[in-house]
Amino acid sequence: MGKDVIIACDFNGAEETLRFLDKFEGKKPYVKIGMELFYSEGPDIVRKIKARGHKIFLDLKLHDIPNTVNKAMKVLSSLDVDMCNVHGAGTIDMMKAALEGLKRDDGTRPLLIAVTQLTSTTEDRMREELLIDRPLEDVVKVYGENAMKAGLDGVVCSPLEAEGVHQTCGKDFLTVTPGVRFQGADLGDQARVTTPEMAKALGSDYIVVGRPITKAEDPVKAYMDCLKDFVE
Ligand code: C5P
Repeated sequence: MGKDVIIACDFNGAEETLRFLDKFEGKKPYVKIGMELFYSEGPDIVRKIKARGHKIFLDLKLHDIPNTVNKAMKVLSSLDVDMCNVHGAGTIDMMKAALEGLKRDDGTRPLLIAVTQLTSTTEDRMREELLIDRPLEDVVKVYGENAMKAGLDGVVCSPLEAEGVHQTCGKDFLTVTPGVRFQGADLGDQARVTTPEMAKALGSDYIVVGRPITKAEDPVKAYMDCLKDFVE
């Protein structure tokens, strides 16, 4: 599986998003559509960006009872997205149901990955608010194992956990890693972060980069810098 940089297009309207993507001209970056954009524009925004030739990671982080997630995934799969996700906390049964729902009649399906612990979560908050009294790294590995048992393709985790996940689940099990910041940049609400270069050294398969690209003075340069540091 090739390494790539996925731009988190966290905008709330189609116009702003398409204007942003226009800046990239011939380049066709892998695009992440999250809740903000999907909930404001609906499935049409997925079709529009797909028609421009971008690969799409639809990041809706489903988490519900297995039957509901299965039915929702059937709908998302028909949108021809390349990757989508669920919360690993939904259990192995829920992940299996999600995977089943994604299978298209022709036998293809988008990649399916599971969120382990959000990169904005810290070990303290996990212990105090979620009552999970284990090292964060272990929790991420166990969620990875659960996702693998359910037949998923990988997990969403911090680059800091990518190595541990690969050791536990094998090198072909995908690690899709948000929580990426350039050296010395503002962390915003993220807690477990690394630079693109460090994410590469730690073995991430895909980095998901939002504000360091979308809010950059020159987003195309910021994207190219990420590619240079992470892929080349
Ligand atoms: O702007 P920033 O680079 O922090 O954006 C990271 C993106 O990755 C956001 O769209 C966020 O929803 C997403 N994400 C995350 N942590 C996860 C899963 C997804 O930050 N565990």
